[in-house]
Amino acid sequence: MHTITLIKGDGIGPSIMDEAVKVINATGVKIEWEEAYAGLSAFEKFGTPLPDATMTSFDKTRVAFKGPLTTVVGTGFRSINVALRQQYDLYANVRPAKSWAGIKTRYDDVDIVIVRENTEGLYVGLEHYLSPKKDIAESLAVVTRSASERIVEYAFQYARDNNRQKVTVCHKANILKFSQGLFLDVAREVAARYPDINFDEKIIDAACMHMVMNPKQFDVVVTTNMFGDILSDLTAGLVGGLGLIPGANIGADAALFEAVHGSAPDIAGKNLANPTAVIMAGAMMLSHIGETEAAERVVKAVEKVVNEGIYVTPDLNPNTKAGTVEMGSAIAAAME
Ligand code: NAI
Ligand code: MG
Repeated sequence: MHTITLIKGDGIGPSIMDEAVKVINATGVKIEWEEAYAGLSAFEKFGTPLPDATMTSFDKTRVAFKGPLTTVVGTGFRSINVALRQQYDLYANVRPAKSWAGIKTRYDDVDIVIVRENTEGLYVGLEHYLSPKKDIAESLAVVTRSASERIVEYAFQYARDNNRQKVTVCHKANILKFSQGLFLDVAREVAARYPDINFDEKIIDAACMHMVMNPKQFDVVVTTNMFGDILSDLTAGLVGGLGLIPGANIGADAALFEAVHGSAPDIAGKNLANPTAVIMAGAMMLSHIGETEAAERVVKAVEKVVNEGIYVTPDLNPNTKAGTVEMGSAIAAAME
């Protein structure tokens, strides 16, 4: 029996997470879901976006499965996603984007894993105004040798463990000579320890252009926090949209699994949200807890349903009659 902290989240969160739990339970793996709250729904219920009970549960389980959280702009509360990643030192954010046989996009052979540094960079939360009139603002980026080294190590080790050929570091060391310069220096040092894996460097803006024009040259990509945030939405766009891309937040002794996308308030409550991303995140979570065979069955079932293109949400097929619930049920039913 595994115990997992379940945070359904905001907006489309509860609807897609219910489908993901349905699919994971259908594997037969025994999981005790410990429901906890975070984000806007927690704020409305308990007056805080991150109640102590949620932390107590995650402290104990060390594995969390989380729906998207709405970050209310301008309330003074920091992003709970960022807070959780920093609190549990979930330093590696792994976001695989792969073409699907059944989804027509510009390319049919994209297979890119973004490995995003998840604890520092521009998202450390060091922001303030420099003038009483609040007309000058400053946001600081923090890059440390130790965090850079462990994320680049993670990317190379991931490449080695998953039979991948190449790691590309994306950076802006030409302009941000200190913070990005340090990250690039460390990446070069680590790369030298992995002679079996090809190493490439790209300046982030050019990397975006190359990724759109010739995605095949990218395999594993390692980069700092904000660039990884942006690049992972870009890779989502290459393979069919945000509804498809899972993300694992991995630390030394805790891990949190979620989708790359947010709470999509524009489609919440309409049975339109694609549950694929969180279901695929669930598969990553099953692998993480040692249930690799169940994880493979989930991935196969998702592939079958997505590639058939019938019981899928409208982002994948505009003529569909199915929604979130029908897609989740079809995936659960497709499991052998
Ligand atoms: P978003 O990712 O929620 O939505 C962007 C666009 O993609 C929307 O048009 C939405 O309808 C579509 N979309 C997203 N997920 C989809 C799905 N599963 N199926 C079909 N279409 C989908 O980004 P947005 O609108 O910028 O952010 C909304 C809220 O989510 C904000 O409060 C933001 O802070 C939060 N957010 C939370 C994240 C997390 O909890 N990990 C990650 C990203 C954003
Ligand atoms: Mg993002």
